Amino acid sequence: MNSQPHILVIDDEPDILDVIREALEIDTYQVTTITDPFQVESVLRDAPPDAVITDIHMPKRDGVEIIGIVKQFDPHIPVIVITGHADVTNLMASFRQGAYDYLKKPFQLDELLITVNQAVDKHSLEKQVERYYNELEDMVVQKTQELSKANLRLESNLLGAIRAMVNALDASDQYTRGHSERVTALAVMIGKQMKLDLGTLKVLRLGAILHDIGKIGIPHDILHKPNSLSDDEYEEMKQHPLLGERIMIPIGLDDRVLEIVRQHHERIDGTGYPFGIKEDQITLLARIVAVADTFDAMTSDRPYRKGLSREEAMREILEYRDHLFDPNVTNALFEIYPNLDDDVLQIIAIHPEEFIK
Ligand SMILES: [Fe+2]
Repeated sequence: MNSQPHILVIDDEPDILDVIREALEIDTYQVTTITDPFQVESVLRDAPPDAVITDIHMPKRDGVEIIGIVKQFDPHIPVIVITGHADVTNLMASFRQGAYDYLKKPFQLDELLITVNQAVDKHSLEKQVERYYNELEDMVVQKTQELSKANLRLESNLLGAIRAMVNALDASDQYTRGHSERVTALAVMIGKQMKLDLGTLKVLRLGAILHDIGKIGIPHDILHKPNSLSDDEYEEMKQHPLLGERIMIPIGLDDRVLEIVRQHHERIDGTGYPFGIKEDQITLLARIVAVADTFDAMTSDRPYRKGLSREEAMREILEYRDHLFDPNVTNALFEIYPNLDDDVLQIIAIHPEEFIK
């Protein structure tokens, strides 16, 4: 490829073209000259110039029209017009059309070279700026993609670490093994049934997996007591939502996750704990986890009783629907519970993002 700047010159007088060609070629430009202005399009297409010089007055196609054609092809190519008359009207029309500069016949060759040099410099600078912006745009797109991949990795690492911690807690007791993951799967299914968006479902997933994390701070003999708790022991057990929130605060999770942990034992009629808040004071996500948590607790075996069947547990939850639980949440559970399947729950618990999609 020729690295010399390419100049296209259009004039219906061959003598003028020869003079311009000679002057520009001495100054190391590559020059294409045409006397037929209807050849402009093919030169633009085959060898795009770095600048165009055109006579204004030509029969059939004048310089003003040529400027329009060049600008339409590439608005950055500078066009210099040559005028033989003191024709202000045509000159004004040329500038309105986007002409870069003009030369008045008879012009000095020095004048021609200075004008062409400036036009070519301007064109090269504009091309560099355009290239720079394009590269910058590509770089921003690439960096944004990298950042979002890194965020996804971080999110998945955090979730993995949290699941490992919660599983260790659940596994310390044969009766709670897998509880948090099942609650998570159930809560996400209810949330999806209630048409929550992906971002909210992810918050719900994290809050559900963490809901009982505060049990880490409850004494072992209370947590694993085979028979009913005394009043004092029960009071201590009721601290686990607040303990959970306190444990998780330093991690800097979304506030809505901490709200789920803090509120998952609150009940619609205000009989829950730790604050006894009611109805809308309890966030929707905590109301969902409350139902999922209760359903899983009811259907799991305990040292002192066998777990209920899903149908029995559903019946009990519906019975308390308007007192203890959010009716919209229990309705959503009612719609999905016939299709619950242990294998499905396990898959959702391990790969909830597949289910959330
Ligand atoms: Fe709990």
